[in-house]
Amino acid sequence: MIATAQKVQQLLAQASSSELIIEPDDEGVEINLVNSRLRFHHSFISGPLPLRATQPGQAINRACSNKQRSITRLLDLTAGWGADSLMLASHGKRVTMLEQNELVYAILAYSLDRLAASANGAAIAQRMSIENCNALNFLNHLGDDHDYDCIYLDPMFPGHKSGAKPAKEMQILQAITTNLEMESCFEQALDKARKRVVIKRPAKAASFNDVKPDLVYREKTIRFDVYLTA
Ligand SMILES: C[S@@+](CC[C@H](N)C(=O)[O-])C[C@H]1O[C@@H](n2cnc3c(N)ncnc32)[C@H](O)[C@@H]1O
Repeated sequence: MIATAQKVQQLLAQASSSELIIEPDDEGVEINLVNSRLRFHHSFISGPLPLRATQPGQAINRACSNKQRSITRLLDLTAGWGADSLMLASHGKRVTMLEQNELVYAILAYSLDRLAASANGAAIAQRMSIENCNALNFLNHLGDDHDYDCIYLDPMFPGHKSGAKPAKEMQILQAITTNLEMESCFEQALDKARKRVVIKRPAKAASFNDVKPDLVYREKTIRFDVYLTA
């Protein structure tokens, strides 16, 4: 644990440059992409992420649940800012987040640590964990005895020529990270998930890899395609 905390501190301390300023504080991490004038305070305690996580009836919660209430353990292959994982953990799921980008991982790990130390968030933080790895590697080494009921993916959406810009936190993520081997991750997820795979898609996009989903849960601009594996 100490080694991980040290690694996180080190990554955050080394990340700042004239273009990207990273400032950890008591509640999370301030991220400032200077030339693009994009700022975002990443926190699981205050701001938009915990606010959204407490809202009921989100399509993602329905997509990652079943009537039997037997989906309790989730693997999020594309953690990003952890907004989706926080939402799922706030609604009782245990979630392991995977993130390939070292800086994004360090920001998430730091904010998760702050959540664990907070009075109201400790129970939620206990249901969340994070690993810095390529999800495809993780899946390739996952044995048959794993307990992930649901495997979740949220690949970065391709930019739209005419459409509105995504939220600034997503613009920052797009500037500093990329999709890695998502098609293979999706195929492996279908092979390994105990009960279902859920993938977030733009509302009007084609099915991922042209594989037709079993169920679809829609919101205004996005949808969640569900593939039943049991
Ligand atoms: C669109 S973002 C996910 C946003 C996230 N769902 C949220 O709620 O904030 C996609 C993230 O997946 C990560 N990623 C892409 N390919 C990956 C891979 N093969 N393994 C692990 N992480 C990956 C990217 O670095 C990026 O941070």
